Amino acid sequence: MSAPVCEARNLRASYIPGMPIVFDISVIVDAGELVTLIGPNGAGKSTFLKALAGLVLVEGGEVRLGGQRISGLPTHEIIAAGVGFVPQTSNVFSSLSIEDNLISGGHTLPRSLLRERVQRAFEHFPALADRRRAAANVLSGGQRQMLAVARALMTDPRVIMLDEPTAGLAPKIVHEVLDDLRRLAKSGVAVLMVEQNAKAALRVSDRAYVLVEGRNHMTGTAADLLDNDAIAEAFLGFRRKS
Ligand SMILES: Nc1ncnc2c1ncn2[C@@H]1O[C@H](COP(=O)(O)OP(=O)(O)OP(=O)(O)O)[C@@H](O)[C@H]1O
Ligand SMILES: [Mg+2]
Repeated sequence: MSAPVCEARNLRASYIPGMPIVFDISVIVDAGELVTLIGPNGAGKSTFLKALAGLVLVEGGEVRLGGQRISGLPTHEIIAAGVGFVPQTSNVFSSLSIEDNLISGGHTLPRSLLRERVQRAFEHFPALADRRRAAANVLSGGQRQMLAVARALMTDPRVIMLDEPTAGLAPKIVHEVLDDLRRLAKSGVAVLMVEQNAKAALRVSDRAYVLVEGRNHMTGTAADLLDNDAIAEAFLGFRRKS
């Protein structure tokens, strides 16, 4: 059996050495899968993604990408190894043009490949192509997320991680962004996202993990979690039966 695209095993991570926020979280994401992390505010979801990207201190456990250990490497090496990260805020440069945002996402690539990838991004996201020379701050919230994703895809990551990609978007746009991510997973990338719009996210996801207080609380197929009364009540904001 080949190793999964991305596997975090018993990860422990902190901002201050010896004071973990993520105590013990294990998550697997494979090629073609859309996996969602849900859980209450302060559960450590964002910290967990940052730990995978090497942006916070990993104090225990490990992260493997296609079987190779990447935890402990500096962020630029983690990204070069095949991890894309779209943080919740400041994920595009507002004053740069759309094209320059894409170029900045691929600044480590050789020039010819960079041009090819910018072209590819415009083919995947035609709405961006139409306005390539405009500053990113003219984009709507949904288009901005599209640009952030397109930017992270410039390096052809094997796994792309997104922190609340639909935060602050109108409901109709939430579904558009989630559908885009579904399509992205279908193209073969492993997609791992944190979502507050848990119900909408689970509807497009394959599997999900519920994280509470820096630990795994529950995991299953997205359909099973949507169907689970306790989860629905605690995390999805509705009660199925009275
Ligand atoms: N830069 C930081 N330095 C120190 N502590 C931090 C930092 N960022 C977050 N924390 C703490 O880590 C804990 C978990 O935060 P985190 O942002 O990972 O949670 P979350 O599950 O993403 O929550 P939310 O749903 O609100 O986004 C919180 O108690 C928070 O105060
Ligand atoms: Mg968060």
